[in-house]
Amino acid sequence: MRDAAPDQSQTVIHLADYAPVPVTVTHVDLHLRLDPLATEVSARLTCRRQGPGVMVLNGEGLDMVSLAIDGVPLEASRYMLTDTTLTLHDVPDAFLLETVARIAPQENKALEGLYMSNGMYCTQCEAEGFRKITWMLDRPDVMATYDVEIEADLPVLLSNGDEVAPGKWHDPWPKPTYLFALVAGNLVATTDQFTTCEGRAVTLNIWVRPGDEGRTAYAMDALKRSMAWDETVYGRAYDLSVFNIVAVDDFNMGAMENKGLNIFNSKYVLASPDTATDTDFALIEGIVAHEYFHNWTGNRITCRDWFQLCLKEGLTVFRDQQFSADMRSAPVQRIGDVLQLRARQFREDAGPLAHPVRPESFVEINNFYTATVYEKGAEVIGMLRRLVGDAGYAAGCALYFERHDGQACTIEDWLACFEEATGRDLSQFKLWYSQAGTPLVSVTESYGDGTYRLTLRQTVPDTPGQTDKAPMVIPVAWGLLNTAGDEVRPTEVLELTEAETTLTFDLDARPVLSVLRGFSAPVRLEYQQSDTDRLTLLAHDTDPFNRWEAGRALSKDRLLRHITEDAPFDAAWLDALAAVALNDGLDPAFRALALALPSEDDLAQSLHDAGVVPDPTAIHAARKRAFAAVADRLATDLPRLMDDMATPGPYTPEASDAGKRALRAVVLRLLTTQDGGGAARATYDGADNMTDRMAAFTCLLEAGDPNVADQFEAQWSDDRLVMDKWFMARVAHAEPTRAVQIARDLTARPDFDANNPNRVRSVLGGLTAGNPAGFHNPDGSGYEFLAEWLLILDKSNPQTAARLSTAFDAWRRYDADRQALISAALTRLQGQPLSRDLSEMVGRILG
Ligand code: PHE
Ligand code: ZN
Repeated sequence: MRDAAPDQSQTVIHLADYAPVPVTVTHVDLHLRLDPLATEVSARLTCRRQGPGVMVLNGEGLDMVSLAIDGVPLEASRYMLTDTTLTLHDVPDAFLLETVARIAPQENKALEGLYMSNGMYCTQCEAEGFRKITWMLDRPDVMATYDVEIEADLPVLLSNGDEVAPGKWHDPWPKPTYLFALVAGNLVATTDQFTTCEGRAVTLNIWVRPGDEGRTAYAMDALKRSMAWDETVYGRAYDLSVFNIVAVDDFNMGAMENKGLNIFNSKYVLASPDTATDTDFALIEGIVAHEYFHNWTGNRITCRDWFQLCLKEGLTVFRDQQFSADMRSAPVQRIGDVLQLRARQFREDAGPLAHPVRPESFVEINNFYTATVYEKGAEVIGMLRRLVGDAGYAAGCALYFERHDGQACTIEDWLACFEEATGRDLSQFKLWYSQAGTPLVSVTESYGDGTYRLTLRQTVPDTPGQTDKAPMVIPVAWGLLNTAGDEVRPTEVLELTEAETTLTFDLDARPVLSVLRGFSAPVRLEYQQSDTDRLTLLAHDTDPFNRWEAGRALSKDRLLRHITEDAPFDAAWLDALAAVALNDGLDPAFRALALALPSEDDLAQSLHDAGVVPDPTAIHAARKRAFAAVADRLATDLPRLMDDMATPGPYTPEASDAGKRALRAVVLRLLTTQDGGGAARATYDGADNMTDRMAAFTCLLEAGDPNVADQFEAQWSDDRLVMDKWFMARVAHAEPTRAVQIARDLTARPDFDANNPNRVRSVLGGLTAGNPAGFHNPDGSGYEFLAEWLLILDKSNPQTAARLSTAFDAWRRYDADRQALISAALTRLQGQPLSRDLSEMVGRILG
């Protein structure tokens, strides 16, 4: 058994040290004879010198069978082999390097390199997995064409590019190693066709395990819509005759954009009304689009080095968000994206793991696939577009695609295209890539003698390794309403470039300010807006995001004051929420979002920001009371709302029906606080789709229904993806004092597979993210439980362990007792032999 050996090497890699390779590889010829324990990988690399220096190839955990240059076996004196490198001395200027390696995919539980999942072979090479398959220059600035031949007694053999003969693939597009992929197994395909705007006929396949064919239709539809959208909106067409997607059960991340052969976590591709929720459908649409869009933003134009990760990820997230906004309701999409950003990225930016969108150093690159690189990276693109305008954005993108096609690029290359296309100096804007931390913008206003004065001040907080930061360019979209709710000044964008700016206007009456419309920049606002003004915005703002935001601000304020001062929930707030809930002129999805209260984690962070030590138990209780108060206010309307939101006819994942179901789910939770679960039981028993079933299931779990967990399990125990939901819900919706024990018991079940990241995340994430009051149980049992599992997982799958460790990152928010318990748990971990991934994370979290 080949365990992931503990690797405590904490070598720090710096952006400033980037240097191109002295000898490059232009073509890769691979022959793989697949075997679970003894796969033989023969590689023939076409190498060419481009500068002075020795050639150092990466190779990790490989058994060397042979090594030759230009057909002649290499003498021992001409190379040096270590656990991670192959160094070649005195190579000619052009040569063919031939190696044969032996690897054991069956034993690879790290799910990086070549591994096996349910009897099928698959690969994951981003970021540095290719080196676990064969010796190669495993870095993104080395781009090569590939010929791949797969030998295995299996019906389906796939790799990148076009299939030239059974099991033989040729990829004509030069690509870095991280985009290599191979799949072999007993798979079945759903097939469709797409003809590009350039007239290319493309075969589209979604490959799944036999039995899952019935769940591919939605992903296929999303793929075709993505291909058409990228042609229309960005002028980008697909460039091979086949596009393959494969669903894999054991996968560390969401999905992977390998050239012509995207590999997906089955959770993000398989869906049927009976097994997937509306949220799953929306995620599938977004992720299929995201991976497809990478074909241009990532594959045709890739990253020079891993510090430039946001070049492909921030841009591609921005593109998939635009796509989803076009496919669905744009305001609802924006609110959802901002909720995610605040929940994940603001939290990261506020703690010990804060780092710039383009980091300048790392130990393990896998630890930098973060909300900051992805989601803040996308916000930075959105700001750029706002600053240069739609036409400037289109011109800059067009120049980027034209100039850099086939290259490995940097953020500087990207920004230069916009500077040239628009004539705008982006040097201050570039600070968004290098300064970490969420800027705080404070807003003050005054009105008197016919003059309205608005002052904006910005500060960028200190973050690990960064202090005394310079002011950023912050596009602040704003508009004014009068106190009757009519808009008196439509949206304008103020470019805040100084630490402080004041605007003055002549106005007949005091206005109501609507600021940061559409969430025009990823900043925190410090703005003591009055309740009356917030109520006006909630009822009348023309900007839907700020309409929602006004309601959110009111709710948050009520909850915080309830927690800190025991303030009662006042009628004005409850009436305003009720008015939104019952306003049939508003999109049901929007109404559902407006009724949802700020999360427990959001409240904890807000208390901390206000200088109050958050108590997770008190927050949980306060939120429950607030929910009950809303339910009381709406009591007589709830049954009618349930009926109004019915979606007659068979289930469709369309946004309009999904919105109604979302509102119904909120109403059901409110009803459950009143009827103890009667309505939820009826909904559960009558549900004909997973969205309604899950909504009712979670209500029943919270209401303490004694049978529903077993009922659900009896019906779905054979379905891995549905059971992941069950595992997660059981923990997330457990009574907090019981959550840790429930999670522990679940990990002891025979169907808890510690090698399956989805299952592991269901239980551990269900506790740490889904049940904060349970995780932060004052006895420390949640911390101990997580630490124990991190240590177990780290031995087999360091990436997943490192990712789960981020649950500890907000530890300095809490009281001295909890801090002591968490730091003891982390320190105990530090005393153990850990992977490079986890030891970097634990070190950074402890600070
Ligand atoms: N590049 C993938 C994406 O964002 C994410 C990923 C990273 C997947 C690393 C696997 C490993 O689309
Ligand atoms: Zn991506």
